[in-house]
Amino acid sequence: MAAAGKTIRPRRSVLYVPGSNTRAIEKAKGLDVDSIIFDLEDAVAPEAKLDAREQVYQAVKAGDFGHRELVIRINALTSEFGRSDLDAAITAKPDAIALPKVNGPADLKLVSGILKAQGADPAIKLWAMMETPLAMLNAKGIGLSGLEDDVRLDALVMGTNDLAKETGVAIAPGRAELMPWLMTCVAAARAGRISIIDGVFNDFSKPEAFAEECAQGARMGMDGKTLIHPSQIEACHRAFSPGPYELAWARKMIAAFDDPANKSKGVVQVEGQMVERLHADMGRHLVAVAEAIEARNMAG
Ligand code: COA
Ligand code: MG
Repeated sequence: MAAAGKTIRPRRSVLYVPGSNTRAIEKAKGLDVDSIIFDLEDAVAPEAKLDAREQVYQAVKAGDFGHRELVIRINALTSEFGRSDLDAAITAKPDAIALPKVNGPADLKLVSGILKAQGADPAIKLWAMMETPLAMLNAKGIGLSGLEDDVRLDALVMGTNDLAKETGVAIAPGRAELMPWLMTCVAAARAGRISIIDGVFNDFSKPEAFAEECAQGARMGMDGKTLIHPSQIEACHRAFSPGPYELAWARKMIAAFDDPANKSKGVVQVEGQMVERLHADMGRHLVAVAEAIEARNMAG
């Protein structure tokens, strides 16, 4: 459930494309994804960083990605590449800039301050990678930054591979060990009224296990999942799109409270189930998500 009161933008599938991979960048123009993260960070070797920056800059500036939301993941500002990546991203004008290894709200304030000082287009949002031990401990403050308009934070993205590296936690089937952090970040995103995108599933040759992890992410309240390979898109959309039964039930709950006979009621029964006004509100959100997906499909 993303951003009550804000325009709903489907973010079911968020595909990483290495900024150094010309063929993958070109291919992404035709892939059925909601969002693309052009990566200048982990997916790019140090010796390819400058070429990747230039290539991503040109691709984003030229556009031609249709409905797809475009995000550039820059290198950390503490690295030798970060500041120039940020300047290139500001000029390229993607929908958002993803910041790696955010440790706390001060990191976001620093970058939004630079964006303001540089006169960056206010439409450029920030996405925060949640992938360090400190980010897990400071998740509340990071998420709440979503309520501060000048910080422009629009999404949290789970960086599970880095979390595993930095903490020693294992990424095992079912993700039991990761669950406290994942769910803390879901709560943090909701407190800040922003989106939250689940981490990647590395083994793209295991479609069944991948589909299971997508379904798990959807149950946890994630808006979508970060992907690494085109073969993951379809299953991801299946898991994160409202299904026909869910939608039919949502419409029944909405109709129950739209019925003038129930005008003054806070709770009614629909087909033997207790339905409160809050359930109808959830139903309205689900219908709005389905309509946003439909609109995106029409946009091509
Ligand atoms: N985005 C767009 N296209 C991609 C892609 C991606 N992330 N991953 C693969 N493709 C394309 C390939 O270019 C290839 O296209 P082609 O058939 O037209 O030549 C096709 O999909 C099939 O790819 P395949 O041969 O199965 O895989 P690969 O060996 O080319 O690439 C990876 C495998 C893992 C290296 C690649 O998927 C990748 O780089 N993923 C993203 C990694 C990343 O960004 N990580 C950082 C965040 S975790
Ligand atoms: Mg990383």
